[in-house]
Amino acid sequence: MVSSVADYRLAARRRLSRLAFDYLDGGAEDGDALKRNTDAYKQWLFKPRVLKDVSICSAATQFFGREAAAPMIVGPTGLNGLFWPRADELLAQAASRAGLPFALSTASTSLLEDVRAAAPQGDLWMQLYVQQDRGIAEDIMRRASAAGYSTLLLTVDVPVHGKRDHDTRNGFKLPLRLTPKLIADCMMHPHWSMQMARSGSLQLKNIAKSVGERADLSRHSAMLSRQMDLNLGWTDLDWVRAHWTGKVIVKGVMSADDATLALKHGADGIVVSNHGGRQLGSTFAPVEVLPGIVDAVGSDMTVLVDGGVRRGSDALKAVALGASGVLLGRAPLYGVAANGLAGAAGVLALMMDEMLIAMRLLGCQTLADLGPAFIGNANDVVNHGLHCRT
Ligand code: FNR
Repeated sequence: MVSSVADYRLAARRRLSRLAFDYLDGGAEDGDALKRNTDAYKQWLFKPRVLKDVSICSAATQFFGREAAAPMIVGPTGLNGLFWPRADELLAQAASRAGLPFALSTASTSLLEDVRAAAPQGDLWMQLYVQQDRGIAEDIMRRASAAGYSTLLLTVDVPVHGKRDHDTRNGFKLPLRLTPKLIADCMMHPHWSMQMARSGSLQLKNIAKSVGERADLSRHSAMLSRQMDLNLGWTDLDWVRAHWTGKVIVKGVMSADDATLALKHGADGIVVSNHGGRQLGSTFAPVEVLPGIVDAVGSDMTVLVDGGVRRGSDALKAVALGASGVLLGRAPLYGVAANGLAGAAGVLALMMDEMLIAMRLLGCQTLADLGPAFIGNANDVVNHGLHCRT
């Protein structure tokens, strides 16, 4: 019986090979940023109001004028086919059925057109990595626009790939080669191994299609890891605008100064993010820097946040701190890795349920009722004795 995202994580760990699970679950270097991301939510504590009418309660919101059932977006994650065949399509379907947007990674293992076909009514967002050959990004923008993707997430925190020690130890390299270690790993996880064998080799299909060649994973994954455009700068938002007419969100902002630059250069929004602790090994948690960033730009642009959201109540904390919503990275991945579409849908339903329970317990009928008065930081209580005054 699963009753939390943590339960789905355990189920995913049982099913996946060590190599696949560590790729999904792990962080950079010693995992300090990853751990801090989840721990930081525990430092923010609710201050509920009571005896409010909560007979009606809704977490519904809007992203850029489109309705969403809750302030959550299924975030972009690459190589999802490593966890379940056609996982991108299944995640998009689960998000669409739950009334939430889904963001597809440039490094997806499904074609963006197939994801659209799987979720014809869904609000789909496209995540963009910009490689040295700008023609690839331009073609992905053109295709995503033609397929009706509404919003572009320009990821800016991956000029190079983070140092992920677990992947090095596991010999994680694309395409996967059958080393004695991987064979032993596969034998310990027969269901995953059989499924992977039946579904054929993993391919970064979007990149391959935009390069205009047969999908060659080793070449395209090498392109992704070594051929990022290191010259990408703020003025390139103009270049993005020339190829994308929808909304543009800059993903991977961790300072108020960069948030201000994003606003100045015409971004419609930002995602406050440290890439789920997978890039720099040691950073503040996004939810720690969120209040300062909201102060700087929150009234002028959409501020989203991700990293460490494992409960519906975590999403509410982010909203109380001024975010318009959160992106979910690993949480729905644990679901899809544990049990395909049912698992992904299960995680989203569970988190939405947790959110509504917490809203009622806080005395909030809608997200508009929620604000800074409902939240405080445990460190302030310890350091300044705020409990005497609240
Ligand atoms: C990611 N993330 C990511 N981000 C992005 O912009 N493009 C990508 O291709 C990927 N790929 C990716 C793969 C995997 C396995 C994970 C776990 C994450 C980062 C992701 O969008 C998001 O920022 C973090 O995952 C949020 O943190 P949590 O929710 O996983 O703690």
